Amino acid sequence: MISLFVLLLSALSPSPITALVRPLDVGKLPALGWNSWNAFNCDINETKFLVAANKLVDLGLKDVGYNYVNIDDCWQVKDKRNETTGRMIPDPDKFPDGIKGTSDKIHALGLKIGIYSSAGTKTCAGYVASIGNELIDATTFADWGIDYLKYDNCNVPAEWADECDACVPDSWASHFRPIKNGTCTDKTGLCPDGYDFHKSNTAERFRIMGDALKKQNRTILYSLCEWGEANPQQWGNDTAASWRMSGDISPSWSRIVEILNENSFYLNYVDFWGHADPDMLEVGNGDLTPAETRSHFALWAAMKSPLLIGTALDKLSDANVAILKNKHLLAFNQDAVVGKPAMPYKWGTNPDWTFNATWPAEFWAGDSQAGVLVLLFNPAGETVEKFANFTEIPGVTAGEMYEVVDIWTDTKLGCFGGGVVAHVDSHDTAGFLLKKGCGYGYGYKRGKRSSRIWS
Ligand SMILES: *[C@@H]1O[C@H](CO)[C@@H](O)[C@H](O)[C@H]1NC(C)=O
Ligand SMILES: *[C@@H]1O[C@H](CO)[C@@H](O)[C@H](O)[C@H]1NC(C)=O
Ligand SMILES: *[C@@H]1O[C@H](CO)[C@@H](O)[C@H](O)[C@H]1NC(C)=O
Ligand SMILES: *[C@@H]1O[C@H](CO)[C@@H](O)[C@H](O)[C@H]1NC(C)=O
Ligand SMILES: *[C@@H]1O[C@H](CO)[C@@H](O)[C@H](O)[C@H]1NC(C)=O
Ligand SMILES: *[C@@H]1O[C@H](CO)[C@@H](O)[C@H](O)[C@H]1NC(C)=O
Ligand SMILES: *[C@@H]1O[C@H](CO)[C@@H](O)[C@H](O)[C@H]1NC(C)=O
Repeated sequence: MISLFVLLLSALSPSPITALVRPLDVGKLPALGWNSWNAFNCDINETKFLVAANKLVDLGLKDVGYNYVNIDDCWQVKDKRNETTGRMIPDPDKFPDGIKGTSDKIHALGLKIGIYSSAGTKTCAGYVASIGNELIDATTFADWGIDYLKYDNCNVPAEWADECDACVPDSWASHFRPIKNGTCTDKTGLCPDGYDFHKSNTAERFRIMGDALKKQNRTILYSLCEWGEANPQQWGNDTAASWRMSGDISPSWSRIVEILNENSFYLNYVDFWGHADPDMLEVGNGDLTPAETRSHFALWAAMKSPLLIGTALDKLSDANVAILKNKHLLAFNQDAVVGKPAMPYKWGTNPDWTFNATWPAEFWAGDSQAGVLVLLFNPAGETVEKFANFTEIPGVTAGEMYEVVDIWTDTKLGCFGGGVVAHVDSHDTAGFLLKKGCGYGYGYKRGKRSSRIWS
């Protein structure tokens, strides 16, 4: 009753912003779950989703909040719709009971299910997609019990091209431009300064599907995958629960670091109900080292990114399961009271605001109910001593003592004033929660971590 009332109110509301506040708090916090793409690409079938769903339960990942099981590209019959109904057709070999059948099985485990389409004539892998059929597809997804839509940006018809391009500082983008302090230095061919990207064709293509989803008697979380083009920082929050801010991630350290650097310039746009998405997790994939895996997960969680696991859960190591279940990082990511992400408070090696695809900001902090989260990231090729100077950390009072908790070992290191020093291994990230309650004092206190802490 209550959710129906909210739904009706939002349908009547003239404001696109309040319309995005969905019933039952869906989309208020970053989504947590699993998606098939990074693990399996097009090689999917129902079994793989049921294995993932059961593993979310068995590994305790569901208990700590991972609740979406998302089908990515290649789930449908490739080149035709149902001639009678106009609906997309689930591939009967991959999904013998249809998507509805899979959806029922996922829901029976207490989980939610997501699906995928593109705001173009075909998906990125060349399957039937949604442009021109948004309402019929949204209705179909709702009928199947879908809870989440990832909406991609491939195969856009020529008449939907944008009149000009945004500044996209991502090597993956077709109109890549270098930036300085967040702004393109070379503006050739780009939209003029002050251009309102709400009026871009891209924004409109994605808005049409968002409106179609809002018409359904079902709350479907809407996740934009338009690769940071057409400046979604400006309109993403009015349109969806999250927006990709870059091209695709890959399980390579250099790509993860490049995306981290880019997203660090967009974090002012993140708060409750709207999250920049630096793409799905690569934990468990490629040749990422344990240190690189820790940094990837810690910084994605701290930026309040949606956290969608993208690996075969039946092959995931215990160490990686533990990283994905890190209670301090998940509590920060899912904080119900503080919506803002952690941000760089100092770059470190490079001057503040340096845009550098191989060397992002090193000193990060963000407030939370549990205290101030501080991350010391080491992009260097060797171990580096890093000092979290309390005088420099926003929300921390110089001269006050803080109880310091090591987020990786979950140990209380004691009361510290002034700062914390850590030896951070190459590509690793030291993480601390600073909690009030130690009173006032001065000086540093000795403690121990795998990376040593000293005065
Ligand atoms: C999915 O594929 C695997 C092999 O990759 C196979 O064992 C399984 O039976 C398939 N499931 C369905 C529903 O086709
Ligand atoms: C098309 O939809 C009709 C009506 O629901 C259904 O009877 C028919 O089996 C569908 N055809 C295909 C190819 O899915
Ligand atoms: C860089 O951009 C940030 C945020 O827009 C601004 O606060 C800062 O003053 C700028 N720094 C320089 C050197 O222009
Ligand atoms: C909306 O869905 C609920 C169950 O999910 C159902 O009880 C209700 O009748 C539906 N309302 C409309 C207007 O279809
Ligand atoms: C995004 O929209 C929500 C809902 O209207 C609002 O509460 C939030 O503050 C917005 N985010 C930003 C960064 O303005
Ligand atoms: C990025 O920063 C690192 C560390 O200062 C530096 O060695 C490297 O040359 C920078 N890269 C570019 C392209 O400026
Ligand atoms: C801590 O930061 C403050 C403000 O930048 C600075 O004055 C002080 O020297 C720093 N302390 C140490 C030990 O580096």
